[in-house]
Amino acid sequence: VRSAVSRSSSSNRLLTRTFATESVPERKVAVLGAAGGIGQPLALLMKLNPLVSKLALYDIAGTPGVAADVGHVNTRSEVTGYVGEEQLGKALEGSDVVIIPAGVPRKPGMTRDDLFNINAGIVKSLCTAIAKYCPNALVNMISNPVNSTVPIAAEVFKKANTYDEKKLFGVTTLDVVRAKTFYAGKANVPVAEVNVPVIGGHAGITILPLFSQATPKANLTDDTIVALTKRTQDGGTEVVEAKAGKGSATLSMAYAGALFADACLKGLNGVPDVVECSFVQSTVTELPFFASKVKLGKNGVESVLDLGPLSDFEKEGLEKLKPELKASIEKGIQFANAN
Ligand code: NAD
Ligand code: LMR
Repeated sequence: VRSAVSRSSSSNRLLTRTFATESVPERKVAVLGAAGGIGQPLALLMKLNPLVSKLALYDIAGTPGVAADVGHVNTRSEVTGYVGEEQLGKALEGSDVVIIPAGVPRKPGMTRDDLFNINAGIVKSLCTAIAKYCPNALVNMISNPVNSTVPIAAEVFKKANTYDEKKLFGVTTLDVVRAKTFYAGKANVPVAEVNVPVIGGHAGITILPLFSQATPKANLTDDTIVALTKRTQDGGTEVVEAKAGKGSATLSMAYAGALFADACLKGLNGVPDVVECSFVQSTVTELPFFASKVKLGKNGVESVLDLGPLSDFEKEGLEKLKPELKASIEKGIQFANAN
């Protein structure tokens, strides 16, 4: 930790410097949709992350208040709120990581694909701005339907000649977080020690947790594995129904989004062996995008890892999810090219 702390006359600078170290590079993170249900707690969690030096909070309304509030937390990053499209460029400029939780959430009875008509346009316009103002940033896409919004982003970047497949991520971390929680409950093991890869996509049966690879190992019955798989696939719906019309997961999503962004920052900073599941451009199956374990490095995706051995139940789940995932990917590509 820098010794300059005692030389600082401003308490603000003092607090900033307390958290700065010579070895931690400057990193700017932008959150688009920062005044929303996910955006606000995510802004707070990113403010708590010592790897962040600048935090840009953008939304179409409400960000000055969120930024003033979060900005009082005595951690390293400098927080700025940006509101309205005319300020989007400034929010994005110089960003290393852009997190996108902008868009409408589900209500009971809706699928994630029912959000397509509104969210596809939002994602397209935000990605057009990313291509212009921070084409080298890692993009963490949270907005649903992720199975389509990630392909939309890729097409927008391709058209702008800025596409780098190593830098575009669909955030599926919440599926992993849920799979770990539910598995720990049934396996009776400490949740903090649990690892479960989740592959495929981020909607219903396209979410495929690989409990056969879960650690610590536990002797669970086939029926328990089937139930755990279904609960993980329906985790989002469980929250949507419990919130009864007031939206979908926000707090657990903010946690998951902060975990994933932290992994991206660690990768950028050269921390070795950072591995998270994410929905990325992929050749592990015949589908052009697929979620699986990804090694993160200084340029984003360093490598997409193999799926590893699957149980017969998982092999069946994999074949079943492919048509739906393929259709969602194609829908996104078609939208981006038609509009
Ligand atoms: P919310 O309605 O509470 O917040 C969305 C925010 O986006 C609002 O503040 C709104 O003003 C803002 N917004 C709308 N248009 C915008 C634009 N053009 N530019 C910038 N901001 C804009 O919704 P929420 O609960 O925060 O959910 C946001 C999205 O995240 C939804 O699409 C939801 O389905 C998705 N989600 C994804 C996951 C996942 O695991 N990937 C988990 C939970 C929610
Ligand atoms: C989730 O998994 O919680 C999100 O995708 C939100 C939703 O609509 O379920």
